[in-house]
Amino acid sequence: MSEAQRVPMPVSLGDYERLAERVLDANAWAYLAGGAGDEITLAENGEAYRRWRLMPRVLRQPIAAHTRVTLFGRELAHPILVAPVAYQRLFHPQGELASAIGASAQDALMVLSSMASVRLEDAAAAGPACRWLQLYMRPQCEETIDLVRRAEASGYEALVVTVDAPLSGLRNREQRAAFRLPPDISAVNLGPNVQQVQQPLAQGESAVFREWQRMAIGWDDIAWLVSATKLPVVLKGIASPHDARLAMNAGAAGLIVSNHGGRVLDTVAASIELLPAVVEAIGGRMPVLVDGGIRRGTDVLKALALGANAVLVGRPAVYGLAVAGALGVSHVLRILRDELEMAMALTGCAALSEILPDRLLRA
Ligand code: FNR
Ligand code: LAC
Repeated sequence: MSEAQRVPMPVSLGDYERLAERVLDANAWAYLAGGAGDEITLAENGEAYRRWRLMPRVLRQPIAAHTRVTLFGRELAHPILVAPVAYQRLFHPQGELASAIGASAQDALMVLSSMASVRLEDAAAAGPACRWLQLYMRPQCEETIDLVRRAEASGYEALVVTVDAPLSGLRNREQRAAFRLPPDISAVNLGPNVQQVQQPLAQGESAVFREWQRMAIGWDDIAWLVSATKLPVVLKGIASPHDARLAMNAGAAGLIVSNHGGRVLDTVAASIELLPAVVEAIGGRMPVLVDGGIRRGTDVLKALALGANAVLVGRPAVYGLAVAGALGVSHVLRILRDELEMAMALTGCAALSEILPDRLLRA
């Protein structure tokens, strides 16, 4: 019997997670699966979905049920996007190219990380999925504008500025595993000034605050970026309704409610707990997406019922990538979409607009 025949067929995202842990080395696994500190937010992101229970509706005969949604003028077949995840060649030799092929096969939209391990032009050329580019803006704007122009030239349709990680967070699991990037994997789209040589600290100086000051951008920088491109600018990592309003004032075109998959500041609330207040603050004036902890189609339905226009999945797509390359990414997305459709049918929702809060009960 071949190895493939002995591995049980994965039928859920949890199955892919278990298989991914078996195929990845301890270094890559610590980076992928881990979170910040005691990983309380990481666990809570998933657990918070289980505190909502569903209300079935019956005998509703659907006419032309579908999962379509339009974001920034592009109609998507379904609301499940692939979140930006850095350095995907850690998980599969083809890295982001395989993810782009797998996402394209499922008519999904993929957000490419600015710390991708393949060129953004090549990821876009791999298929129609990879059309949003994530950026970490730095105070030196030349590098950002260079990336933006390359994105515009290669057909990207939106920019996603991640605002929740001016520092990369305290990753104890990575520290314990002594995580390091292999020498042949790097953020190939960025210039060398990402890896700065550290100056010695002066007496009484804080390493953390020095780094924060070196990397920090402000609302003015967002407004500047909005004025420098025709592409919609989406802010990723909004948690507070106050920041949601400031984002709208700065000209953002959309928001992603996120705690970075529990990887930056531990004990932040679960993203699905943060979502309703942001949705209320925005009041339908721009799309609000959410990510973190989505592992089932019922989780997608719950996020939409609480006001999200669409969702993103981070680690699960990469579990698929690690296990079976493009095919694995495609299968993970297909499973999630099938589960969403099943949940819609059994709660009597024939379109995303029919997924309303009355389908949820607090457990
Ligand atoms: C991330 N995430 C992330 N976000 C971002 O804006 N830029 C990035 O480069 C990365 N890199 C990255 C690497 C790895 C290994 C992970 C797991 C995550 C965060 C990601 O986009 C998303 O917010 C979370 O992964 C969502 O949570 P789930 O779906 O993984 O639970
Ligand atoms: C991470 C960074 C790259 O979460 O966003 O690892």
